[in-house]
Amino acid sequence: MMTDHNRIMADYNVVLDCWKNVKADYAGYGGKVLTRLFQKYPQTKKLFPKFKDIPTSDLEGNAVVGAQGAIVLKKLGELLEAKGDRTKIRELLDTSQANTHKIDLGSFKLITKVLVEVMVEKARLDAAKQGALERVMNHLISIIDGRYEEIGFNG
Ligand code: HEM
Repeated sequence: MMTDHNRIMADYNVVLDCWKNVKADYAGYGGKVLTRLFQKYPQTKKLFPKFKDIPTSDLEGNAVVGAQGAIVLKKLGELLEAKGDRTKIRELLDTSQANTHKIDLGSFKLITKVLVEVMVEKARLDAAKQGALERVMNHLISIIDGRYEEIGFNG
């Protein structure tokens, strides 16, 4: 029987393999993820000063949205490549969300939902790969949750 550790490592490997598609088109994937996030959960758009005045109907294909989406997915890719290594994840977080933009875990969960949808549609993830992505994102979120507790951020 696979241990929990081996299972989640296998999931990370599946997800990192799928991530090749994202790496080949960060802005395409990132723009779609953010556009979908803002369309489905309009309250998240208000958190971005640079997007709050862009009408939701103009988000799709917007270069600024694509550029921010690329930033998010590049960083998320680095977090995934850490494969649950808490020290590495802490280092990666300390230069972004944890220091400057402490994004609440609720928003992380919302972006996870839209990421899964976009990956299923655009990178054609099957059900097994979708499950791996969901487990890996939950694993990462639980580590980020632990980090937020350490620094006293009520995320
Ligand atoms: C997968 C999860 C996410 C990752 C990896 C991520 C990563 C990043 C990175 C690397 C930056 C730029 C560096 C920085 O300024 O620290 C950034 C900026 C930002 N993020 Fe996130 N982010 C994520 C999710 C979110 C979510 C869900 C929200 C809000 C709903 C959000 C809101 C912001 C805002 C407001 C900025 C500043 C944008 C600007 O005006 O330049 N992020 N994020």
